[in-house]
Amino acid sequence: MKSLLFSRFLLLLPWVLIVIIVLDIDSSRAPLPALSPRGGAEGGSGGARPPAPRRRPEAALPTIYAITPTYSRPVQKAELTRLANTFRQVSRLHWILVEDAAARSELVTRFVAGAGLPCTHLHVPTPRRYKRPGLPRATEQRNAGLAWLRQRHQHLPPPQPGVLFFADDDNTYSLELFQEMRTTRKVSVWPVGLVGGRRYERPVVENGKVVGWYTGWRADRPFAIDMAGFAVSLQVILSHPKAVFKRRGSQPGMQESDFLKQITTVEELEPKANNCTKVLVWHTRTEKVNLANEPKYHLDTINIEV
Ligand code: UGA
Ligand code: MN
Repeated sequence: MKSLLFSRFLLLLPWVLIVIIVLDIDSSRAPLPALSPRGGAEGGSGGARPPAPRRRPEAALPTIYAITPTYSRPVQKAELTRLANTFRQVSRLHWILVEDAAARSELVTRFVAGAGLPCTHLHVPTPRRYKRPGLPRATEQRNAGLAWLRQRHQHLPPPQPGVLFFADDDNTYSLELFQEMRTTRKVSVWPVGLVGGRRYERPVVENGKVVGWYTGWRADRPFAIDMAGFAVSLQVILSHPKAVFKRRGSQPGMQESDFLKQITTVEELEPKANNCTKVLVWHTRTEKVNLANEPKYHLDTINIEV
């Protein structure tokens, strides 16, 4: 009985193999579906199979430029490590890291070299007179990032699909956020968690348009939104070459509004994150570290970068 089964199996085996090989050749010869021009008319001959969806080539994805101001403090490397671990998982992301310093620091230079993602390392110091509590932070650094971006694209031929986003070094970013902002046409907005003295702030959306702001802090702001709550297309940045963050007359919490009103209107904003109903970024703040037991003079036998 066993030998009968075995001989049947041997008899069938070559045929099964032939069928597999023929199927394989057939599928590798199948013509690739023609790429229809974007926005071009589809279909035509009735009954024809629609072209199989092709994966969008990576090169066509708009680049996300993330401008991150950063300054030296005990938690700096920890913050940058967390941020790089997020950014490394985002395709076509270019990190513009701007140090608040008179020169590039060794720590950040080394960090950038090993970060494992495209990175531009800039630096500009905040003038001493602006380093005071109650004054806006990182104005000069964000402007340096904007200047670099504009200069870089001056000499590149259009179109240059890109999206700019201000990514402070201490916030928490979900990967979904980058999918959302990638499709920004002009200026897009979304909710931000743990900000403004509330669990979240968000643009209020009606019929796909921003009509107001859910916020617990200074609701009179023209754009009641945190720095982490919007993205701008590169085209808008390039077509408004004078749009920058201003020191003169600026008040805390007004930087976002002052910047946005130079480039857009509330009516024009594109709501993301399911009509601004999902929190995909959190305005987390790292607590100041306790270094009470740190010796005044170097006591260890080795030097460690922390
Ligand atoms: C809030 C907003 O979320 C910030 O976008 C805004 O810049 C800031 O207020 C402000 O007051 O201007 P907050 O958490 O209070 O943020 O500010 P930080 O996270 O301390 O600073 C924002 C960014 O500027 C960070 O990336 C930080 O590394 C950088 N920074 C801060 C400097 O480059 N230099 C500084 O002296 C302080
Ligand atoms: Mn912060």
